[in-house]
Amino acid sequence: MDFTIRAATLEDCKDISRMIMELAEYEKLSDRVKVTQRDLEQDGFSKNPFFHGIIAEVPEKHKSKEGHTKVGYSLYFYTYSSWKGRAVYMEDLYVMPEFRGKGIGKALMSKVAQLGLAAGCNQLDFTVLDWNKPSLDFYLSQGCLDITANIGYHCMRCEGDALERLAQGDT
Ligand SMILES: CC(C)(COP(=O)(O)OP(=O)(O)OC[C@H]1O[C@@H](n2cnc3c(N)ncnc32)[C@H](O)[C@@H]1OP(=O)(O)O)[C@@H](O)C(=O)NCCC(=O)NCCS
Repeated sequence: MDFTIRAATLEDCKDISRMIMELAEYEKLSDRVKVTQRDLEQDGFSKNPFFHGIIAEVPEKHKSKEGHTKVGYSLYFYTYSSWKGRAVYMEDLYVMPEFRGKGIGKALMSKVAQLGLAAGCNQLDFTVLDWNKPSLDFYLSQGCLDITANIGYHCMRCEGDALERLAQGDT
């Protein structure tokens, strides 16, 4: 099947928002999605974007049952390691169910890798849910490593009231 991979634009935010929800439903975490189409428009397409995106698109003749031609996406952003330097973080990778197994996921991930290398990055980082064996196998098939057991770190977070108190020096 023909498809193209291209940089996301402001006009794609409606479809990205739809696919973020589809991915969250697949991950059984849809109640956690707080980001709206408007947030995506502001955060990805203003002067200092917080993320970048790419879209997989099929020709009209191959549109989905519901009429969608934008059938996959990836969001990514640049990070920095004080040991290894520039890195790219892939936040999401998603292909709609009826378009899987046609090379679209591989092409999206390959594009993120290309963009990262072109920006001087040394590594591509991402996470996958522990039960998501099909995607874990997909990533392993792409030459990626599961570093969980050897990384020796806890992933930490501060949010909500704790973040407010931390910012106010009130902990
Ligand atoms: C993971 C996902 C992006 C893969 O996209 P896709 O378009 O179905 O994958 P592709 O067709 O590009 O597959 C590319 C290669 O990976 C292999 N592959 C795909 N799924 C695989 C699996 N479950 N196990 C092993 N290999 C797999 C394919 O055989 C293919 O190999 P080849 O190039 O040697 O033929 C897609 O299945 C998806 O959106 N899944 C649900 C959402 C999700 O879990 N996203 C990741 C969140 S971390």
